[in-house]
Amino acid sequence: MKPIYVGLLGIGTVGGGTYTVLKRNQQEIVRRTGRNIEIRMIADLDQEKARHLVAGDPVTITSDAHEVVRHPDIDIVIELIGGQTIAKAAILEAIQHGKHVITANKALLAAHGNEIFAAAQQHNVIVAYEAAVAGGIPIIKALREGLTANRIEWIAGIINGTSNFILSEMRAKGLDFHTVLAHAQQLGYAEADPTYDIEGIDAAHKITLMAALAFGVPIRFDQTYIEGITQLANDDIRYAEELGYRIKLLGITKRVSNGIELRVHPALIPVKRLIANVEGVMNAVIVKGDAVGPTLYYGAGAGAEPTASAVIADLIDVTRLFTASSEHRVPALAFLPAQLSDTPI
Ligand code: HSE
Repeated sequence: MKPIYVGLLGIGTVGGGTYTVLKRNQQEIVRRTGRNIEIRMIADLDQEKARHLVAGDPVTITSDAHEVVRHPDIDIVIELIGGQTIAKAAILEAIQHGKHVITANKALLAAHGNEIFAAAQQHNVIVAYEAAVAGGIPIIKALREGLTANRIEWIAGIINGTSNFILSEMRAKGLDFHTVLAHAQQLGYAEADPTYDIEGIDAAHKITLMAALAFGVPIRFDQTYIEGITQLANDDIRYAEELGYRIKLLGITKRVSNGIELRVHPALIPVKRLIANVEGVMNAVIVKGDAVGPTLYYGAGAGAEPTASAVIADLIDVTRLFTASSEHRVPALAFLPAQLSDTPI
C-alpha cells in the first residue's frame, strides 16, 4: 500500500523530536496502522539544520512552507512553525488543498481556531491538535473519546510546564525566578516568547481549547481571566509551604449558572493533594464528568519527544482514516493477531 506522505513545517524542538521519534518507531507504527508514514518534505528557514536532521533520507527541503502545503504528493501537513501569521496562512492553504493538518500551535488555535475549524469542516478535512494541550498527555483524546459519554462539569490543571518548572525549582532549590526561567529556555520548554509561559497566556490558550471541546462552545480566549506567576517571590512560596500549601499555576474551566468560567491564576493547594506534588515540567489535568467522576491525567507537559509523542499520535489517527482495512481503523479495541509482534517486549 502506498505510504502516507507528510509535509513537516518547522524543525525546532518539537519538529526535530517528531522526525526522530517517527523514524525510530517506524516498525511499531506500521504494525499499528498498516501503512508506512514518511516525512517527504520539510520547510524551515534553516535548511542546513534540516539536512543534518534527515541525514540522507529522501526528503525535499525548502524554505517555503507554501511549496509543501500545495504539493500534490503530500497527504498530511504537520505545522510546527509556531507564531500566527505564516502558520495560519499555511494551515488555511493546506486545508484548501484538501490536506489534513496536525498542529501544536495553541496560540494560533486560541486566536483563530473558530475560523480554522470552520474551514476544515467546509473542506472535509481534519485539524488535529493533541500536542497543543499539555504536551505528551493525551488529554484531547480523553475528552474527545474516553469521556465522551459524560457531561463534563469542570476541568482544572497544571498546563504550563515552564511555570511549573520555575515554581518547583524556586521551592526546592531556593533559586530565583530568572535563573530558573533561563534554564527552562535552555531545556526547550519555554515558548519563543517566554512571557506567554510566565504570564499565564500559554495556559489560557490551552484551557480555552479544552473548554471548547468539553462544553461544545466556541473558543473564547478573549473571555479568560489571566494572571501569571511573575508577582510571586521565593518568600510567598516558602510561607505557603509553612502553612501546608503549595503554589501552582492552574487553568480552570467549569460550568456556572450563566455560562462557562475560564481562568488561569496561581492557587494555594494543600500539600497532601496529588496535584500539589506535580513537579518540574510535568503537567496534570483533572476532568470531572457527571458519570465517571473525577479523572486525573499526568505526564510531561513540554519537551521535544513528549510533545512529538502527541503529534505522532494525531498522525497515526489521521493515517487510519486513509486506511480501508477495518483491523487498522479501529485502534486498541482488541489485539488482533495481525498486529501482534513476535518480538518480546
Ligand atoms: N511552553 C509550553 C510549556 C510548552 O511550558 O508548557 C508546551 O506547550
